[in-house]
Amino acid sequence: MKRCSAPGKIILFGEHAVVFGKPAFALAIDLRITSTLSASTQYLVNGRPMKKQYHMYVSSALDQAWDGPPVEVVTRSQIPSGSGLGSSAAVTVATIAAMLAEKGRFQAEAVARKAFEVELAVQGRASPTDTSTSSNGHGVLVAQEKMDGFLWRIESGDKSWSIHHREVPEFTFVIGYTGIHASTGPLVAGVKALVDSSRDAAKAVDRIAELVMDGVNAMEKGDKAKVGRLMAENHQLLNTLGVGHAMLDRAVEACGPVSYGAKMTGAGGGGSMIALTDDPTGASKAIASTGCTPFTVKVGCEGVRLEPYARRDS
Ligand code: MEV
Repeated sequence: MKRCSAPGKIILFGEHAVVFGKPAFALAIDLRITSTLSASTQYLVNGRPMKKQYHMYVSSALDQAWDGPPVEVVTRSQIPSGSGLGSSAAVTVATIAAMLAEKGRFQAEAVARKAFEVELAVQGRASPTDTSTSSNGHGVLVAQEKMDGFLWRIESGDKSWSIHHREVPEFTFVIGYTGIHASTGPLVAGVKALVDSSRDAAKAVDRIAELVMDGVNAMEKGDKAKVGRLMAENHQLLNTLGVGHAMLDRAVEACGPVSYGAKMTGAGGGGSMIALTDDPTGASKAIASTGCTPFTVKVGCEGVRLEPYARRDS
């Protein structure tokens, strides 16, 4: 049968605001999820009977992309779940890719479109940022208008997003994982409620939208100091949107002297923060001193891919 892997991601700028149709910029990281599809007499996920309430993403992926006989899906993850590092997008992308590969129709854009439908179905509200980044890999700029590197356009209701490929310089990011599992759906719903009722929150979304392109331009010029300043501003704006956490603030603050800038990444409410640094050892120590788990990642990694499969590997 078929085995595919897909990367997790960090969002450098624009999470949450992107759900309102604003821009965002995300980077694929060198932590991956592998999904293997094989024939079975019943639907199984990691050896257990598939249940919608426990296997939301895999079962919704099957709804989107599988109409064949029962299968077993086995997933192996290097990404902590609920860490804000795109584990649900990566498992969805890898599983859909394996199903499309089985039908001879594996192609990154088709995977990204179906994976977005899955996130939407599970989360309620979503943007295609995580799923398109996991599908394409490298850097992904999500924007309203079409720009250089245009890949595909994804629509949902009255919103649409143009997805672009961006090459990524060799920047070093250290992640600080709080260990606090946060579900994206309720956080996204909370931001919507706040934006509908608070002018400050609505203004924060608009300011995030402005800083994304500045940040991308600064990154492309290699201006780490500016990228870092904008990351710090984006972090505060996410706090205004109510998705912060005291542990994230402590880790971001601790990274001040040893990084260009730091911010929470992904849905927030726990999850992870990232620091842009030339001193990964110093940043890791600073992060660890706040109780978060540090790890250094490579960014700009390859998107979804078919992996070799031999039955004895399963
Ligand atoms: C989560 O990684 C990113 C959010 O912007 C949600 C989304 O884009 O669907 C919070």
